[in-house]
Amino acid sequence: MANSTSQPEVIDVSESDVDITTTTDIVIARQNGRRLAANHAFSKSQQTRFATAISELTRNVLTYAVKGKCLFSVTYSHQKTIITAKIIDYGPGIKSIEQALKDGFSSGQGMGLGLPGAKRLVDSFTIASKPGFTVVEVSVSQQSTVRRS
Ligand SMILES: Nc1ncnc2c1ncn2[C@@H]1O[C@H](COP(=O)(O)OP(=O)(O)O)[C@@H](O)[C@H]1O
Ligand SMILES: [Mg+2]
Repeated sequence: MANSTSQPEVIDVSESDVDITTTTDIVIARQNGRRLAANHAFSKSQQTRFATAISELTRNVLTYAVKGKCLFSVTYSHQKTIITAKIIDYGPGIKSIEQALKDGFSSGQGMGLGLPGAKRLVDSFTIASKPGFTVVEVSVSQQSTVRRS
């Protein structure tokens, strides 16, 4: 439980987690992200930005790694609400993260805007990758509207 010293409080929202194996799962992950943001009083614009980032990243999972998962968490800390989507796969990994984050870079037939676009849309973006493992974490955050004590 949170207390007056503002210990981070992590809310279990694992019922929103999605295994990503088909294009339908992209839609579900996107919807779940939007719903979580809506439920925690994020603006329509933030809901859309978060959902769009999730959409791009889960599409990359299908395209480059075949399958993976999208895990959600909600944290209250220092009067802020942070919603995070962690998109994980066990595919080949990203050869060069620096290159992959450049606008227009695609190793395939893509537009090369998925990763750099997602990065611009959210409040926090981290990526780690090696052969056999890629994880991208995106978050939106805002001042908590609900007072928790
Ligand atoms: N999950 C992933 N696993 C391996 N490589 C990836 C993954 N996501 C992105 N990439 C690499 O990063 C590049 C840029 O991704 P992105 O910006 O989404 O553009 P696009 O998908 O249009 O190529 C991809 O072309 C691919 O080489
Ligand atoms: Mg892409």
